[in-house]
Amino acid sequence: MKPVNIGLLGLGTVGQGVANILVRNATEIERRAGRGIKVKTASVRTQGKNLAGTLGIETTSDPSTIVNDPDIDIVCENMGGEQPALDLIMSAISQGKHVITANKALIAIHGNQIFEAARKHGVIVAFEPAVAGGIPIIKAIREGLAANRIDWLAGIINGTGNFILSEMASKGRDFADVLAEAQALGYAEADPEFDVEGIDAAHKLTILASIAFGIPLQFDAVFTEGISKISREDVAFADELGYRIKHLGVARRRADGIELRVHPTLIPQERLIANVNGVMNAVLVQSDAVGPTLYYGPGAGSEPTGSAVVADIVDVVRALTTDAQQRVPHLAFQFDALSNQPVLKPEDFESAYYLRVQAEDKPGVMADITSIFGELGISIEAILQKEPSEEAAANNANVPVILLTRTVREGLMLSAIEKIGALNSVSDDLSMLRVESLS
Ligand code: HSE
Repeated sequence: MKPVNIGLLGLGTVGQGVANILVRNATEIERRAGRGIKVKTASVRTQGKNLAGTLGIETTSDPSTIVNDPDIDIVCENMGGEQPALDLIMSAISQGKHVITANKALIAIHGNQIFEAARKHGVIVAFEPAVAGGIPIIKAIREGLAANRIDWLAGIINGTGNFILSEMASKGRDFADVLAEAQALGYAEADPEFDVEGIDAAHKLTILASIAFGIPLQFDAVFTEGISKISREDVAFADELGYRIKHLGVARRRADGIELRVHPTLIPQERLIANVNGVMNAVLVQSDAVGPTLYYGPGAGSEPTGSAVVADIVDVVRALTTDAQQRVPHLAFQFDALSNQPVLKPEDFESAYYLRVQAEDKPGVMADITSIFGELGISIEAILQKEPSEEAAANNANVPVILLTRTVREGLMLSAIEKIGALNSVSDDLSMLRVESLS
């Protein structure tokens, strides 16, 4: 049988991984897919020209020639960015081509429109490589957990952020210092703000929540907080209290709506996910039938992400002869069964909290702070007051006071912080982080 022809939009890090895997594992992949798979053409700028020459892949500088080529059956988009990727994908769909994309921003922001068009034209748009690189998390949730009602998921889904927090925790380094190293090592996105301010993780969480709960993609509804304000001191205090700070994407289904949030989070040190370090990713899913399941692996990189692209290619090839109505729905749930459960506002989130305040070292200050919690009905789980350093004591400088609360509505916690911030004995340098037991 004639091999299936692939067109690669982009032959950078991911595209090269795809091309190399398809050649190296051609026999094994054909045994799985039932057809040979060949990269016919790749659009290249500078990167990838040599590899294309070595592997006999045609090249073009104009990606639309791939989309318009009648001999190409499947288009893999590895370019990133919103445009021209969106126009190219929409054009491929309208010409009846199946699409695989590693582009998390594109799916998170334009996915509803893309899947609507794909349904109309009876084609598959697959996006396994868009979330957590090489971890088959989309397939695990969409197909592996199809029997379950998923209650919540929590993931370390940005490798750069995890690398930075891991280095801060294990070596006591400062945020800015580790970020510079992450950029030098090529982990960070072109705009590192996407990594450290949580935008990349919010794209991925949008996708995970949609396939976990059967809700439309709603990137704008995700509460997003990055790690750039995490201090070495907070990492050390968290450690002293038995926690690790991780940048988590959390999606939780409650009776009154869905929480979608990305933020630095204290996790008990004994949880497996608290021990996922460096650039590795992990996603913990809590479901009613199977209970907790944890998925771990490389969240980026040429062949790990290429592995996810090729898995999607194999799925598409297996489905080429099937009726479009009988295929796995793009977002795991049937299109007309997506629910419109509301996404909750941050003040309605429920979590435990870590609060660090810098307070004057004098009698009555602790009582003032704790009485605010008492008045608002917020239960305190632990308090830690640090001795002032010799220098701080000599200068009458403020000392850190750290409080851990029990689970409380965020709106109430924000009221407490406002009142504590207004105390004369407390400075403005205050840090609030969410705490998740993940039990
Ligand atoms: N910049 C991303 C990360 C790459 O650090 O995880 C993979 O999406």
